[in-house]
Amino acid sequence: MNVLVTGSKGQLGTEMRRLSGLHPKHRYVFADIEELDLTDRKAVQRFVDESQADVIVNCAAYTNVDGAEENEVAARKVNADAVENLARTGRRIIHISTDYIFSGEGWLPYREDDTPAPRTAYGRTKLEGEERLRRICPDAIVFRTAWLYSPWGKNFVKTMLRFGEERDELRVVYDQIGSPTYAGDLAQAVYSALDADEWKAGTYHFTDEGVCSWYDFTVEILRQANEILGENRYNARVLPILSTEYAYKTPRPHYSVLDKLKVKQIFDIQIPHWSESLNECLRKLVTTE
Ligand SMILES: NC(=O)c1ccc[n+]([C@@H]2O[C@H](COP(=O)([O-])OP(=O)(O)OC[C@H]3O[C@@H](n4cnc5c(N)ncnc54)[C@H](OP(=O)(O)O)[C@@H]3O)[C@@H](O)[C@H]2O)c1
Repeated sequence: MNVLVTGSKGQLGTEMRRLSGLHPKHRYVFADIEELDLTDRKAVQRFVDESQADVIVNCAAYTNVDGAEENEVAARKVNADAVENLARTGRRIIHISTDYIFSGEGWLPYREDDTPAPRTAYGRTKLEGEERLRRICPDAIVFRTAWLYSPWGKNFVKTMLRFGEERDELRVVYDQIGSPTYAGDLAQAVYSALDADEWKAGTYHFTDEGVCSWYDFTVEILRQANEILGENRYNARVLPILSTEYAYKTPRPHYSVLDKLKVKQIFDIQIPHWSESLNECLRKLVTTE
């Protein structure tokens, strides 16, 4: 199969590229905005035809939650219009979405068929992307994920490592609960869908196993980083606070946990606990600094 991976310089796109060598039965083309601006409908069709893609894995998105709140039009262009451009190429699509399509007010892990109720511009535009994709390509595969991190780009783990070294004290919320997800694990789930004997259309929830608060996550990031280094470089004291004590520009979901039963059953995969995958990522981050 010829596979086109869009948004290939983002966190997930980079992991897709890194792992592609382990999946040699496909031929890959990787493109980010410099090669292909997905908001340009004609350019998308031309690029997809020229690359002879059979399947498109769309890792591109407007992921800045506060930026989307300030400029929903710009977010919609990438998170919904561009997704429609890809859908209209007539190719099979694997698309990535987010827990932000839910209200975040639940207390049981969200299932794929739970009712969406986005509370942010980012969530609204991502939901619109999913809906427009399904209308045009009923056989699309959508993976919804949450709390994504990797050694690449900007993410919570990298920010906490920096603050953990520079600051004496970190105040981190303990009333937002979710499942940290290593982008490499999500990329492996995408490859399970690409490598499957048959195309398994549908929506799937994927995060790493286990749940924690951002506070617990931070404590573990600094603890493991010091353990890997064998010295106390990340010395900040981590203090738990409530979301109301933090000046968020955009409301954050209190509960982001996704139910992964379907993805595990349909693709017959095992998912690592978030603390194991965190260790894998930190080994790459702290030993190369
Ligand atoms: N990050 C999270 O915590 C999180 C949580 C839940 C779901 N997700 C979803 O998971 C997926 C992957 O996220 P990620 O963290 O890997 O995203 P990311 O690191 O922000 O990467 C997205 C990539 O898309 C590119 N892009 C933006 N606009 C584009 C355009 N018009 N044409 C082509 N490429 C464009 C970006 O380029 P620039 O950098 O130049 O803009 C970037 O390289 C996304 O669908 C996201 O919504 C992420």
